[in-house]
Amino acid sequence: MKLSIDPGRKLGHINPELQGHFSEHLGRCIYEGLYVGENNKDIPHVNGMRVDVVEALKQIHIPVLRWPGGCFADEYHWKDGIGPKETRKKMINTHWGGVVEDNSFGTHEFMELCRQLGCKTYVNGNVGSGTVQEMSEWVEYMTFEGVSPMADLRKANGHEAPWTVDYFGVGNENWGCGGNMTAEYYANLYRRYQTYVRNYDPKKPIQKICCGSDGYDMEWPDKVMKICFQSQEQFHGFMDGISLHYYTLPGDWTVKGSATEFDEKDWYRTLAKTLKMEDRIKINEAIMDKHDKNNKVGLIIDEWGSWYDVEPGTNPGFLYQQNTVRDALIAGLNLNLFNKHCRRVKMANIAQLVNVLQAVILTDGDKMIKTPTYHVFDMYKYHQDAELVQSSIDTETIGVEDQWKIPFVQESVSLGKDGKLHITLCNTSADKDAPVEASFADTVVKSVTGEIVGGEIHEHNTFDTPDCVVKKNFDQFKVEDASHVSITLPHSSVVHLAVEI
Ligand code: AHR
Repeated sequence: MKLSIDPGRKLGHINPELQGHFSEHLGRCIYEGLYVGENNKDIPHVNGMRVDVVEALKQIHIPVLRWPGGCFADEYHWKDGIGPKETRKKMINTHWGGVVEDNSFGTHEFMELCRQLGCKTYVNGNVGSGTVQEMSEWVEYMTFEGVSPMADLRKANGHEAPWTVDYFGVGNENWGCGGNMTAEYYANLYRRYQTYVRNYDPKKPIQKICCGSDGYDMEWPDKVMKICFQSQEQFHGFMDGISLHYYTLPGDWTVKGSATEFDEKDWYRTLAKTLKMEDRIKINEAIMDKHDKNNKVGLIIDEWGSWYDVEPGTNPGFLYQQNTVRDALIAGLNLNLFNKHCRRVKMANIAQLVNVLQAVILTDGDKMIKTPTYHVFDMYKYHQDAELVQSSIDTETIGVEDQWKIPFVQESVSLGKDGKLHITLCNTSADKDAPVEASFADTVVKSVTGEIVGGEIHEHNTFDTPDCVVKKNFDQFKVEDASHVSITLPHSSVVHLAVEI
């Protein structure tokens, strides 16, 4: 297979946010996974945030974190989560397991977590069951510096300076759990609610994200773009992004399929469904291009990843699942697609950060493991803030049935801030290694280093064997001459090559 790379042809900037994350008040993501409480004596923490998890996330340069949901966002009332912990309201988390939410993790704790992580903040507001006033006051509470009721309340609660809200979501899945609205109804609400998401600091404008589609209903984004975007040229900052949610399910919503027990057919079907992400992106791009000819609004894929049947024996409402080499491929394929569509895709947030769905980290008490997906993010971090360069591969297709045929090898290439070319390659075969001949136009290859995440398709990390699937050095390549490198990609693997030019 021939991989052609033309480093002279730059195709767009890869926002670091393409490798963003999502944390919801769901199962053990926030509580236990990230936050263990300020008085915890058993698990090392700083101001309640787990040291092991924060350190691991800093290693992959987590660029942005979305919170508090998800479906939870549209029934979250932020004032319940501020002030002395003992007086914070307790509520039932109706969406996720019916457990008691004690609101001990709220706005101050989220901002503290992002401070420790050194990442941008993406706060998702409540349109489904919240008022315009409530949303407006939350923004004032978080970002207003001067004298005002909400800024004074923040100061009284111990935080003198305002925080930075980089992104603000005006509702979540408002066609479903966020209020079961029609597109027209939501679009008009969006226009109204976003008006009161004030930019108190013009130097740090909040990027406003409008609710987009589930990946299938394409009338929604069309109508919403039409109604919400029409004033954009007149009123700058009306809408900065529109979301897209697309999950990979090996089966359907009734029987999704096991995270760890699957056959080769399931493997190819799952990867084929993952690659359907590209169709969803392209359809959204076409709709957005129709309304927004100057490419001002970003496509924000703020929920993506694998969704399996929950791990046997766990609370079905907690969405806890294992993570195998198959998930490493799901991550690698999606991240390559996001790079290739970086003209429109400005942020993507894998669901979810810890202990939920395609998590990068799993915890059990004071133990923590990094999943295969984590190690893929660790290899792909070199694409953050890089320039996408032209690449193509004349790959054959493989798979088990016509319906689930997929490319044998998929790639993306960028010119990183370190001046090196970063090539990330996915070998989607369950059992065949892939010979790849890479050629570089008008470029002198000086040296190449490699790393790999892969193994047998079911392999995964457990608390007893945490290092079964990890990032390893990769050297199955040969620099043939100054512009050619031959590579042998092991089956079911994701590889990163850093090329000094
Ligand atoms: O990530 C889990 C859930 O999936 C989110 O809460 C919701 O937005 C989506 O349906």
